[in-house]
Formats: sequence, C-alpha cells, structure tokens
Amino acid sequence: MKKKTIGILGSTGSIGCQTLSLLKDNKNYQIIFLSCNRNIKKLFDQVKIFKPKHIYIIDKKSYNKFKAKNKFRNLKIYNDLYKLKRSIKNKLDYTVSAFSGNQGFDSTFEVSEISRNLLIANKEAIILGNNILKKKLKKNKCNLIPIDSEHYSIFKFIKDNKIIIKNIHKIFITASGGPFYNKKINFKNVTIKNALRHPNWKMGKKISIDSATLANKILEYFEAIILFSFKPDNIIIRIQPSSKIHSIVLMKSGFYYLIAHNNDMKIPISSALNLNSIFKNSDKIVFEKQKLSFYKPNSKQFKLIRIAKKVANLGHSAMIMFSVINERLVYKFLQKEITFDKISSILLHLFSNKKFISLCKTYIRSKKDIYNIVKIAEQYRLD
Ligand SMILES: NC(=O)c1ccc[n+]([C@@H]2O[C@H](COP(=O)([O-])OP(=O)(O)OC[C@H]3O[C@@H](n4cnc5c(N)ncnc54)[C@H](OP(=O)(O)O)[C@@H]3O)[C@@H](O)[C@H]2O)c1
Repeated sequence: MKKKTIGILGSTGSIGCQTLSLLKDNKNYQIIFLSCNRNIKKLFDQVKIFKPKHIYIIDKKSYNKFKAKNKFRNLKIYNDLYKLKRSIKNKLDYTVSAFSGNQGFDSTFEVSEISRNLLIANKEAIILGNNILKKKLKKNKCNLIPIDSEHYSIFKFIKDNKIIIKNIHKIFITASGGPFYNKKINFKNVTIKNALRHPNWKMGKKISIDSATLANKILEYFEAIILFSFKPDNIIIRIQPSSKIHSIVLMKSGFYYLIAHNNDMKIPISSALNLNSIFKNSDKIVFEKQKLSFYKPNSKQFKLIRIAKKVANLGHSAMIMFSVINERLVYKFLQKEITFDKISSILLHLFSNKKFISLCKTYIRSKKDIYNIVKIAEQYRLD
C-alpha cells in the first residue's frame, strides 16, 4: 500500500506533538516535513525519530544554528517557506497547520498549494484568511478540515450525516470557562502562572491565556461563522465546564445533536487523518458524574463576550483587528507590561472608538488587503 504523506507546520507545539504521537510507529504514513520557530532541540529529536525529508525553521538564528550542527545527511533545511514549497514535487496527502497565532496565516495559505487536505488548528489563520483563504484552497483543490475540537465535531457531524447546512437552525460551541470560571478573582492581580493553568487542556501559552479571557472562544465564534457561513446570531457560546461536549447542532426540525468526546485533541486529529486510532478510555464520559450542564458566559467575568457579535457583524477587517490586537495584548501580559484585566478592557475600549471602528470597515479583496489590515492592527497605539 502506498504510504500517506504528511507535513506539519508547528510540529514542536502542543498540537504538532500530539499529531506526531499518533503517527509514531504507524508504517502507513510518511512524514515529509516538520517545522518550528525556535525550538530546534525538540525538532532535532523529532527528526531523529520521524526522519522527515525536509524541515522548515522560521527563526533565522535557530535555522543557522541547526544547519551548522546538522548531522542528518539527506535532510533539507529551509528558512524560506517558498523554497520548501518548491522542493515538494508531489502533493502531500495531509498538511497540519499548527503554528500558533496570527503568524501562522501565511504558511497556512501557502501550503494549500502542496496539500490535498489541510488540517487547520491555527484558528487565527482561518480568521485572517476568511473567504480569501477558502478561495485559495478551492483553487488548489485542497480540502479544509478544521481540527479545533468544536469545529471538527460540527464538520464531522455535517459530513457523516450528509446534513444540508440550510436545515440547521443554530450551532452552539462550548467553552470550559478556563482557570477562573466561577471564582472570585481580582483580574488585575492575576499572575501569569495562574492564567496559564488551564483546568482541562494542556496547550500553548497564547491559547491558554485566550481561554482565561474567553478570547479563544470569541476567535472560535468567528472561525465558525467563516467555516460554516453562518450568521453571527445563529452561533451561540455556552460554558460547559467539563469540556466533554464540544458542540451542539440544533436543526430547524427541532432536534438537538450533542457532539461529545473526551477532552483529548488526539481524538479529532486522529479522525481527521483517518487513522482509525482506538481510544480505550472513551467510555469514561459518564453522564451522571460529568455534570454536562451549560451556562451562559457571565459578561461581568468574561467582558469580551460583550463585543463578540459587534466585531463579527463589522466583518472580516474587524475580526482581523480583534485577533491581531488581542495577540499583542496577550504578549504584553506575558512580558508583564500590562495586567491581565487590560487585555479585555483595552479591546472593549477600542471597539467603542469611532475612529478605530471606521478602520474595521475596510473591505478586503485580496491577500495584500489582509496584510494591510494586519499592519494597521500591529501599529495601532494601545495606550
Ligand atoms: N493546543 C491545543 O490543544 C489546541 C486546541 C485547539 C486549537 N489549537 C490551536 O492550534 C494552534 C497551535 O496551538 P498550540 O497549543 O499547539 O501552540 P504551541 O504549543 O505554542 O505551539 C506553537 C507552534 O508554533 C510555533 N511558533 C511559535 N511562534 C511562532 C511564530 N511566531 N510563527 C510561527 N510559528 C510559531 C512553535 O514553534 P517553537 O516550538 O519553535 O516555538 C510551535 O511549533 C493555535 O492556533 C491554537 O489556537 C490548539
């Protein structure tokens, strides 16, 4: 049997490592490329085990360091995605987009040219790319498979049951509530350590902070609007503290479908890669014990929920502005330049400012327009 080929953007991160752990010892899959930003130590270990043909290292210093010490004879090492793309002659069966943050957009967009199926965990890439990304994938005959658990569960439900989208009334995406859910906290005093301590998932820093502010769910709300072409009013966010139910689909016929699985990202990744992995502990979702209740996010605690619909209704540019400025604020918090509460309060303030909102109405027709908005968001004064 011909081996399935696969490339991973962000193989050293949480999603990348979980993908690789599923592929370890699987002889039906061949890793063609792996990549990272700076963590060349982990990348080195991955090259030893998975023997990819190519690696792509974003950070120039780390690239030079790896190249200087490289002992793998047939390994091709790149710092330039376009060179990596050119060197891959046959389209890959799967590429996993698992870089973190808005920086992942360009690579996600470009690898669609060398992939038959693009598994996207990098929600920021979907938000930045929106219809421009969807058109690019269509042109390249590359299937978009979202692997964020909420979106994958809806995607799989629609696909497996041949659901006609117009028969869906509403979709619900769930959030765990993060580390501070239902706790009396002075958000000004939140430490980095506590903000990173997610109760149900082990993830990268950016998404962990986003989970604590609920920005992650708002990004996922935008992601769902884009992926399923749904109106902002028809997507609802609910807190489901045990993270067992990932989405609910409400049909116009009145039937609700609740899509559940354990809080293990390997489940959607394995399914998206058609790995047929067996998850032996899947029978541990014991409904009586897990408290599968749903709560409306409290807008006093999760202030960002107040602007989610407004940003979505403003459209593509506004979603980009939200995503890029949120990421800047997350890094400012991680670098101790601002307190935790400022992430939400600054975003709220900006989205009530007329001048700022007028920038959010810019119409986007091309990848170049996307970069223009990203640049505006990157340079916008935040104090
Ligand atoms: N983790 C989860 O459970 C989960 C669930 C759903 C969706 N997602 C989404 O998946 C994406 C990845 O999340 P993660 O938790 O796997 O993140 P992560 O653990 O922080 O890993 C991020 C990966 O991206 C690389 N990276 C770091 N900075 C970068 C930059 N400036 N440009 C490009 N790549 C960079 C990292 O390389 P180095 O190791 O060299 O820094 C690493 O390979 C995010 O968009 C997240 O929202 C994650």
